[in-house]
Amino acid sequence: MNTDDRPPVTVIGLGAMGKALAGAFLDNGHPTTVWNRTEGKGRELVERGATEAATAAEAIAASPVVVVCVLDYDAVREILGAPGTVTGLLAGRTLVNLTNGTPRQARELARWVSGRGADYLDGGVMAVPPMIGNPGSLVLCSGSPGAFTAHEGTLSALGAVDYLGEDAGRASLYDIALLSAMYGMFGGFLQAVALTGSERIPATEFTPLVVSWLNAMLTSLPAMAKAYDANDHSATTSNLGMQATGFVNLLETGRDQGVSTELLKPMGALLDRGVAANRGDDGLSALIDLLRTGPASATDPASATDPAKGADPAKGADPARATDPARATDAGSHDVVSHHLGSE
Ligand SMILES: NC(=O)c1ccc[n+]([C@@H]2O[C@H](COP(=O)([O-])OP(=O)(O)OC[C@H]3O[C@@H](n4cnc5c(N)ncnc54)[C@H](OP(=O)(O)O)[C@@H]3O)[C@@H](O)[C@H]2O)c1
Repeated sequence: MNTDDRPPVTVIGLGAMGKALAGAFLDNGHPTTVWNRTEGKGRELVERGATEAATAAEAIAASPVVVVCVLDYDAVREILGAPGTVTGLLAGRTLVNLTNGTPRQARELARWVSGRGADYLDGGVMAVPPMIGNPGSLVLCSGSPGAFTAHEGTLSALGAVDYLGEDAGRASLYDIALLSAMYGMFGGFLQAVALTGSERIPATEFTPLVVSWLNAMLTSLPAMAKAYDANDHSATTSNLGMQATGFVNLLETGRDQGVSTELLKPMGALLDRGVAANRGDDGLSALIDLLRTGPASATDPASATDPAKGADPAKGADPARATDPARATDAGSHDVVSHHLGSE
């Protein structure tokens, strides 16, 4: 394969994910420059052909596409805000930020980056490091359409790339939503194994049943999605009232078996709220409306910016759906990136 014409790429951040990203670019013949805050993490990549930059500034200057994948946005800000790093260097380049963060953080960083004459793409990596560059790896991406068109080929070294449009926050929203679904599943698994473990049933013996049960339950998701989109939650074989009654047994069994119910309690409370809102005859999808219409918890920091806060959770009413969350979030946010990074 002729790889001579592959564009150069820079990867900033050589944790488990950054190393895998850089490795995939190298495997695909991209001249790859790497930088990491702590020295020494690029050694193996250098042996495979990467160039290790001495500073983040040197790394940014080396390529038209700069991929950043560090722990969080604070780390991104620290790197981009280091004196002398960014000014004049980002202009004309594309910053692809694959660091996990919130839609608001992505939108703010997009504005900051475009203010420096650079293009911004935000991404969510839906894979663990060994999957990168292999079938099953998915990178969700949103932001500058021109940059995506120009660099889609480069990014495809990482796996399938799904472009979700111009809103830089959209990839992050999908990423966080998918992770929310994942943690729900993992939380359920942890609870299940803790319960059976309380009677010394080996997890390896019980887990195949969990896997087949969850797979069977997964088939109900498209119907729930359809019910939510149609705002018709009535046709159901498993009504909320029945589920709220049965859920009490999950809590009681946890207590009886000496297993914490901390993961389960919020779901029980939501089911109860559904019944209290006269939605006991509806199906589980009705709870999505309740999640979007409060009550905003006083201890939930996200509630402060919840566009749906204060809306009427009564059956049929759907004020949250009339709210465009992208616009509400954009309008409500102030530019904390500039605050952190300065206007330079
Ligand atoms: N690993 C996964 O399964 C996975 C899957 C999907 C998405 N992600 C996302 O990918 C990103 C990186 O994850 P990872 O697994 O690579 O994490 P990791 O192995 O813990 O590495 C963290 C990286 O962030 C750097 N970093 C942390 N604070 C920094 C700072 N203040 N300034 C500069 N660099 C800093 C670290 O540099 P040092 O070496 O100097 O500490 C290191 O390169 C995260 O946002 C994560 O959510 C990870």
